[in-house]
Amino acid sequence: MAGVFISGCSKPQSKKTKPEATAAADQSAAGDENDDKLPYNLREGKRLFNHYCAICHGESGDGTGQYYGYGLSPSPANFTDKAFMKTMSDELMFKAISEGSAGVGKSNMCPPWGKTFDKDEIECMIAHIRTFTGK
Ligand code: HEC
Repeated sequence: MAGVFISGCSKPQSKKTKPEATAAADQSAAGDENDDKLPYNLREGKRLFNHYCAICHGESGDGTGQYYGYGLSPSPANFTDKAFMKTMSDELMFKAISEGSAGVGKSNMCPPWGKTFDKDEIECMIAHIRTFTGK
């Protein structure tokens, strides 16, 4: 994992990627076949999220992943809920992901991911999660 730190998630790429506005427009229009066009951090964030988180949170981030029907209580957070997302600063989201939902005073239903992912990977996932509300 150490090498990942050097390559960074968003910063080293920022010169090469498109201006924010264009990148954002691309995201909302992007289907899977367009993933190659995503900036690196979003592509990586999406890949990790779909692999590790979507089973509960859903690929569209609305909290209705495969486990939704199994009566998880509380339900997985809905990242398409703008009101909820407004309450989630990047710092809070980082803590919730690395320490799990229990780390931010909630249930222990969202596992702690801090030993699975490094800081950059978590930031990539946060960037991807932000795309669910179009921000
Ligand atoms: C086993 C199912 C499950 C998996 C897998 C899972 N989550 Fe969760 N997640 C939940 C549940 C359930 C909640 C709601 C917890 C609560 O409100 O007490 C939650 C809440 C959250 C929250 C919001 C915490 C808050 O402050 O309300 C974030 C952020 C989050 N998950 C991120 C992730 C990320 C990123 C991944 C993948 C690396 C992931 N989750 C994988 C079930 C899961």
